[in-house]
Amino acid sequence: MPRRYKVTVVGAGNVGATCAHWLVAKELCDVVLVDIVEGMPQGKALDLMQATPVEDVDCRVVGSNGYAETAGSDVVVITSGIPRKPGMSRDDLIATNKKIVTAVCTEVKKSSPDACVIIVSNPLDAMCHVAYDVLGMPRERVMGMAGVLDTARYKTFVAMEVGCSVEDVHGMVLGGHGDTMVPLPNHTSIGGIPLRELCTKERIDAIVDRTAKGGAEIVGLLKTGSAYYAPASSVVAMVESILKDKKRVLPCASLLDGQYGYKDLFIGVPCVLGAAGVEKVIELELSEHEKKLLDNSAKAVRELVETLKKV
Ligand SMILES: NC(=O)c1ccc[n+]([C@@H]2O[C@H](COP(=O)([O-])OP(=O)(O)OC[C@H]3O[C@@H](n4cnc5c(N)ncnc54)[C@H](O)[C@@H]3O)[C@@H](O)[C@H]2O)c1
Repeated sequence: MPRRYKVTVVGAGNVGATCAHWLVAKELCDVVLVDIVEGMPQGKALDLMQATPVEDVDCRVVGSNGYAETAGSDVVVITSGIPRKPGMSRDDLIATNKKIVTAVCTEVKKSSPDACVIIVSNPLDAMCHVAYDVLGMPRERVMGMAGVLDTARYKTFVAMEVGCSVEDVHGMVLGGHGDTMVPLPNHTSIGGIPLRELCTKERIDAIVDRTAKGGAEIVGLLKTGSAYYAPASSVVAMVESILKDKKRVLPCASLLDGQYGYKDLFIGVPCVLGAAGVEKVIELELSEHEKKLLDNSAKAVRELVETLKKV
């Protein structure tokens, strides 16, 4: 018997509630929204559920302050944690979010042991390590969302620069979710035409720089929190690929086992995302310069993972 998928979103704040919104708008699954604030996830869930007759979608949306309703979820998205404020780096969130992610994963492990778990809380790569250690699930079912967002920002800026449809921009951003992320202009094309043929080196460098600072640009504008529309949409692309076993190739933070020369480290790399989670990590041929940048990013993630032990 076919059944509806069930996706739990932990943290019903900006990113979490917007994830629920996109999931329901696409009629992908039933949604359970969990938050520690009493009444808030229940209120947002009921509100969203009341949009379903207008949108003509059949999704059950419930809010909760506990995990009973989440039992047996197919995918769990973890967005609980504090976001950045102006002047803060993602790394400044580490101590608080480590506690929150640990508490949440302890519950998820009990209530949805067979789920694929997508971490969103920052600092992303470090929080993936926290979640992986607590969840004790196979590596392919624990992953982080950052690369889809960083790539979306990069593609947006490329399309704005070239004056073309975002649909025709193909490219990818690898590495950790921080200032050391690695956009790959040499692997970027527009309708099959290499980016380097359509854009000067100076303009490409400017796009790469704006991408790396893309989150901070929005934090600076919002002043009270960080981005959520594009982050939530990026999460939903990952959820959809898993639920529908689409096997999309998306950059995800995945625990590497020797790929790209890194072992036991979560970092953003191209992954095939299907029903089993990260079904394959694709190893791109990188130039010496690109590999150096990725090594630099991996070093920054390793340092953060070391910091985790002290907080
Ligand atoms: N990976 C990415 O690319 C990316 C992008 C955007 C935001 N983020 C991160 O996602 C996180 C959430 O961002 P936001 O803008 O939604 O923040 P937000 O403050 O709007 O929402 C966070 C929610 O988490 C809840 N929460 C806190 N502790 C909890 C717990 N133990 N259990 C359940 N819920 C709990 C809070 O009550 C709050 O509603 C932040 O850490 C942010 O930095 C990551």
